[in-house]
Amino acid sequence: MSAHIIDGKAFSAKVRSKIADKVSALKSAHGITPGLAVVLVGSDPASQVYVRSKGKQTVEAGMNSFEHKLDADTPEDVLLALIDDLNADDSVHGILVQLPLPGHLDETQVINRIAPEKDVDGFCIANVGLLGTGQKSMVPCTPLGCLLMLRDYHGSLSGKNAVVIGRSNIVGKPMAQLLLNDSCTVTIAHSRTQDLAEVVRGADIVVAAVGRPEMVPGDWIKPGATVIDVGINRIDTEDGKTRLVGDVDYDSCAAVAGAITPVPGGVGPMTIACLLANTVTACCRINNLAEDDFLS
Ligand code: GUN
Repeated sequence: MSAHIIDGKAFSAKVRSKIADKVSALKSAHGITPGLAVVLVGSDPASQVYVRSKGKQTVEAGMNSFEHKLDADTPEDVLLALIDDLNADDSVHGILVQLPLPGHLDETQVINRIAPEKDVDGFCIANVGLLGTGQKSMVPCTPLGCLLMLRDYHGSLSGKNAVVIGRSNIVGKPMAQLLLNDSCTVTIAHSRTQDLAEVVRGADIVVAAVGRPEMVPGDWIKPGATVIDVGINRIDTEDGKTRLVGDVDYDSCAAVAGAITPVPGGVGPMTIACLLANTVTACCRINNLAEDDFLS
């Protein structure tokens, strides 16, 4: 058996095209252009790449992009004051502070300073609580992208056994919550889980989000299961080059799974598409305008 490849690049292009249509309608009907502010503190190379890509795709969708680059040693009160300004700025509908932050900054404090209606990451306590109680919220972009790919492939997820490997606030926990909200039976596995292989073998859906290269081998996968690989790990190859790999061992998992996301070209492109979608949603909510469900 060879798995169906879930093409996140193609799917994200469709989502972004719907977003661009909505942005254009907002402009012509209401004279409003959705705006996304991204704040980068320091010069972590991976974060710089992500921030550049977010800015480019925001502009390509017809939205305004505001980039704020701060020195690595920026004091916390300066960062908090910038967030206060962005909260008060009517041209900004979404605010994203790129993580991780330098060690002297308190991530919890910073994230919770963002106005919940502009928190397009869905990380602040209000949005986490709303998602956890099944209410309308901002939903974290990476798990949302995974959910959309799963719904697109399966239709209903109701009753499926889902195992999420990883318990981060950014991916693992919200992913589990979203799958639960879609009526899956959900297990969150992590570094202390006993007999992880056996736990994963029970899953119809596996979401791997641990940040360990090729950790999940094919013989952990139930035949026909769907594998969503959130990992983006850069590894050195024997010929002195580097290669991007996920958290699952692609070849052995693809030989057993029913469907699988590739790395690159799976979850990654969907994450940014969902960020753009969240920004448009935030813009509509802030202006009391009807939200398009371009995500269904
Ligand atoms: N760093 C890695 N992933 C993310 C994300 O989804 N949002 C933010 N703000 N930072 C990140």
